Amino acid sequence: MNRILGILALSALTTACTVPSSEVGETVSGQPNSGSNTSLEKQAQLQAHWNEDVSGNVTQAYCIVCHSDSSIAKDTGWVILENNQDDYLTTNLSRTLAYMDANENNAQKLLDKAQGVNHGGGAVIQDGTTASDHWVDFIELAQTSETDSSSPDSGNSDGSNPSLSRQAAIDFYTDNLENDLIQGDCYVCHQADGVAKNSDLIFIANNVNDYETFNANSAINYAQLSASNFNNFLLKPIGQGHGGNQIIEITSVHAQNISSFLTLVENIVDTPESSVTAPSNAQASVLLGEVFFVWEMSGDHDGFEVQRKEENGEWQNIATLTENSNLYRDTSVESKNYQYRVRATLEQDNSNYSSAVSVSID
Ligand code: HEC
Ligand code: HEC
Repeated sequence: MNRILGILALSALTTACTVPSSEVGETVSGQPNSGSNTSLEKQAQLQAHWNEDVSGNVTQAYCIVCHSDSSIAKDTGWVILENNQDDYLTTNLSRTLAYMDANENNAQKLLDKAQGVNHGGGAVIQDGTTASDHWVDFIELAQTSETDSSSPDSGNSDGSNPSLSRQAAIDFYTDNLENDLIQGDCYVCHQADGVAKNSDLIFIANNVNDYETFNANSAINYAQLSASNFNNFLLKPIGQGHGGNQIIEITSVHAQNISSFLTLVENIVDTPESSVTAPSNAQASVLLGEVFFVWEMSGDHDGFEVQRKEENGEWQNIATLTENSNLYRDTSVESKNYQYRVRATLEQDNSNYSSAVSVSID
């Protein structure tokens, strides 16, 4: 069984039974991750890359014919499984990584030999082809995996950038889960009029624009909401207490992909507290049928956005004001109750909103 699945399935199973949810909750509450999971996340990325771009385009297309355990390169240090064998995707990735780890020249050998440099198999893929590009990208990505974990600000894979880390989970979901699993095996019940319509996990159909991103966000939001949701996303499909019974095998590539996806979800850092200070001391009063909404502001800002909400309504933007404003006069009001709030802006950033204040117009 693959390493990620092993760890995740095990931790999912044990946390489901024994650990109080608050302890697991930490991983989904937006605490920045210490980085200890970086290599797991990296592993998930590598597996995604391998499944999507490398296996079909390169190794199964060009290498397997000689590098299987029954062919002419069977006694070399790099032997891979054929695609009719269980777990060939995860096994072939781990064998390739192990080969690279075994000797510092081996990564270069994988590249050079593929192009015919000192290779018993001759030139197999040409420079500049799609296959070659995927192969080079993969080897480069695999080689950066060691150094990444020790450099916390090295980009999108360490969870330091919230939008990028969420994007990594969305991308992985889109490439490996949506069409291969969710649409085929989950959607039938987990849709607005399916048998699981009252569950918290609902997907939309693949004929809707951007359904992948929509469904990816649904899955992420579901898994982030609580520790039990997080665990259920893997446990239910493998048949643990699932209204839909067992859908997939625990040893399948699907389970492996769900597990990798959950690792990425675990690494999403939610939007950090804004660095722009919120306006304070918001107050509203009614004078001659108009509302005067005032606030105080200290700290850097270049403008304000004022919102209003009617009873039972939604918050709506009603004004964008310049940096010296501390008052909004609302003349378009009727005999109703209203709430107001304001936030400061600074370039692309916003503060949190001030506390909301209510007025009622007679
Ligand atoms: C036509 C058969 C053939 C094909 C196709 C082939 N190889 Fe090979 N490969 C060999 C043989 C034979 C050897 C052993 C002699 C040598 O080291 O070059 C070998 C050796 C290797 C080695 C060295 C393994 C070691 O022991 O260190 C690597 C790496 C390698 N091949 C990579 C690839 C890659 C990557 C592909 C696909 C893009 C590929 N080969 C396709 C025949 C093939
Ligand atoms: C045959 C119908 C059916 C299929 C197919 C199905 N489910 Fe379900 N699922 C249900 C029902 C019914 C429930 C509600 C009862 C329960 O919580 O188990 C449910 C609940 C869930 C829940 C818990 C949702 C909550 O409210 O917390 C998760 C997670 C889940 N399923 C995941 C999946 C995944 C992932 C797939 C696809 C691999 C899938 N299910 C396929 C019927 C199905």
